Order: sequence, then C-alpha cells, then structure tokens
Amino acid sequence: MAIVNVALGERSYDILIESGSLDRSGALLAKYARKGRLVVVTDDNVAAAQLPRLDAGLRAAETRIAPILLPAGEQTKSWHHLEQLLDALLALEIERGDHVIALGGGVIGDLVGFAASILKRGCHFVQVPTTLLAQVDSSVGGKTAINAKAGKNLIGSFHQPAFVLIDPTTLDSLPDRETRAGYAEVVKYGLIDDAEFFAWCERHGGDLLAGDPEARTRAIERSVRAKAAIVADDERETSGRRALLNLGHTFGHALEADTGFSDMLLHGEGVAAGMALAFRYSARLGLCSAGDAERVTAHLKSVGLPHDLSSAHVTADGPTLVGHMLHDKKMAAGTLPFLLARGIGQTFLSKDVALSDVAAFLDEERAA
Ligand code: NAD
Ligand code: GLY
Repeated sequence: MAIVNVALGERSYDILIESGSLDRSGALLAKYARKGRLVVVTDDNVAAAQLPRLDAGLRAAETRIAPILLPAGEQTKSWHHLEQLLDALLALEIERGDHVIALGGGVIGDLVGFAASILKRGCHFVQVPTTLLAQVDSSVGGKTAINAKAGKNLIGSFHQPAFVLIDPTTLDSLPDRETRAGYAEVVKYGLIDDAEFFAWCERHGGDLLAGDPEARTRAIERSVRAKAAIVADDERETSGRRALLNLGHTFGHALEADTGFSDMLLHGEGVAAGMALAFRYSARLGLCSAGDAERVTAHLKSVGLPHDLSSAHVTADGPTLVGHMLHDKKMAAGTLPFLLARGIGQTFLSKDVALSDVAAFLDEERAA
C-alpha cells in the first residue's frame, strides 16, 4: 500500500494506492457518509463492473449507497448532464459539508468535481478512479470541467478532492484499448522529466498492459507521485511547471479534433501520437537527437499505440491541423505555447514556435 500526499496547505489530501482497497471501502470511505448514507455518482459501465464491490465494502460498515447513474461516454461532460446531476444531488439534500463519491473514469471525475465545486457554493468530493488514465492523471490535481460547443474542457474550475482511492484491480474490467490509451499518460511522466522511468516503461510497459499486478501498481504509484509533486508546485498552472503535463496534448488535440473527438481516436491515443510528433518536431528543430525521437516512437508503436498521423487515422493536411490547434484552450495572448524536448526526460515549454513551420512539419509527416 502507498499513500501519496498532495501538499497544498489547507487543500492537501492523500491518495491511497492499494490493490483490493475498493473491497475495504467501509474502512476507508464510510467516514465520508452522513447518517449512514453516501452519495456515489458513476456511469452505466462502472456501475455494472465495480459498484457492487463498493456497495459490499460499505455495507460491511453499515453504510448504504445512494447511487446516481449517468450514461458512459464523453458526451456526459455536458450542460445537460451537469444539470441532471445537480438536480439529483439537490434532491438527495446534499449539504456543503457533505462528500460526494465519483466512481469512474475521467468523465465522471471531471463532471462530479465540477458539480461539487458549484453545488451550494462548493461541497466536498472523493475520487475513486477506475480507468488507468484517471488513476494516473485526471483524479489528481483538481482540474474539473465539462465540454462546451466551442471545445473540450472549456467550462470548469479548480476544485481539489478530499481524498483519492486508487484500487488497481478495478482495471481488470476495463477494456484493453482503454488501458492502453491510459498508458500513454504513464509514458508521459517519463518523457517529461524522468528518463529512468521511461526506460522502465520500455522494459515493463508490455507487462503492465498484460495485467501484471506489480508492474501496474508500480507505474500508477510512480505516476501519481510525479503528478502530486507538479500540482503541489503549480496548482493553477501559473508558473509553467504544470503545463509540462500537456506534453503531446497540442498535437494530440488537433488529431482528436480531426477525428471528431470520436471513438476513432481516444484521448490517450491522441496524446500518444502527439508525444511522438512533439519529439520528432523537436528533432527536426535540432533540439533533441533523432535517436531519442525514434526511441519514443518505437516504444509507443511496440505497445500498439498510435505514433504518427496514419496510425491515428488522421488524413488532414498541416494547415488544417494547425487550425484545430488554434481552438485549443492553451492559446494565450494569440500565441500557442508548445511543449518540446531537448531529449527524453527534458521537456520544456516554448513560446516561439512558428505555426507555419508546424504546418510544414505536419505536411512532411503526412507525406512520409
Ligand atoms: P471515461 O471516463 O470515458 O472512461 C472510459 C470508458 O471506460 C467509459 O466507457 C467507462 O464507462 C469505462 N470504464 C471506466 N472504468 C471502467 C472499469 N473499471 N471497468 C469497465 N469499464 C470502465 O474516459 P477516461 O479515459 O477515464 O477519461 C477521459 C476524460 O478525462 C476526458 O474527458 C478528459 O478530458 C479527462 N481528463 C481530465 C484530466 C484532468 O486533469 N481533470 C486529465 C486528463 C483527462
Ligand atoms: N492533465 C493535465 C493537468 O492536470 O494539468
């Protein structure tokens, strides 16, 4: 068992990582109940696969669940479902001091976190992430959001959870493709500033994806420690350190937009291809070696993740893809900061990338 603290003064909280911890939810989560009742928000898939475990654990501590079920999928991060969720929470008479449990992937975590941040001017929430992406990234750090017509995650808040409970065994029911997509975010931590962890991923990424419990737990713990340190240092992404977590996301956003934010390319898959593109673009600029860019590409390819435009099912030309980037929420004062690399584990934020050059690079990638 590991406990990682996110050190944020009065907003500090613990992240507990332990296989089987969902089955002891009575001991870990019953304290968040009021009058023996805990409100749990989840989606249809997770309700079928994991809610019975949470329910049994809580019953053992004489705590009953009031479940709120939402449809699975990115479309649930919408005004419509936010309103539905807020109405359901109000009907259950949630008070400001209460805790709401978010059981699910990044969609449920982002939506419940946002609802909790505005319900009665803010109530508490606990994250129980059940996808690899949510366990290593979205459940930690307090970014909450829904999507707008103008783009993804454009309406949201910073609202830290009170506690995060990670049970790696919940991944046993997660479809392989979702696990692989989440693995891209694990690799990201190595590429940002931990070359030794990237080398570990090269050696053990295949084991993790095959469900090896030790590799899985180790990767989750290392990722969570990396994210907790970054969030503690730059909670609101003001110093630039937290922005490093967006490695691969600007290219990835363009690829996701081009595939209509559909199942054709999952978020983590877009990030994987985006990281490979960021490294190859860095090599083209002479910032990092071609060998490092090739290592990144080769690893992503070896685990079956998209690593270029064609494996991401993207056919658009460079200017079209750059056009998508301009709608990215990372645009600031008319410029688009880019995450580039001087090598594996040496990512940095560059504010002077010429978008016409990025378009030319993407056209070269398209022709390759
Ligand atoms: P998701 O929440 O849609 O989950 C993926 C699919 O897996 C869904 O169909 C879900 O029902 C199913 N599922 C979840 N857990 C399961 C389990 N244990 N067993 C069986 N099925 C399960 O997607 P995601 O990849 O977890 O999250 C993506 C979202 O996260 C995006 O909206 C993205 O914007 C957001 N995100 C937020 C942050 C942040 O810092 N807040 C960071 C990264 C991504
Ligand atoms: N996933 C990016 C962040 O939390 O800042």
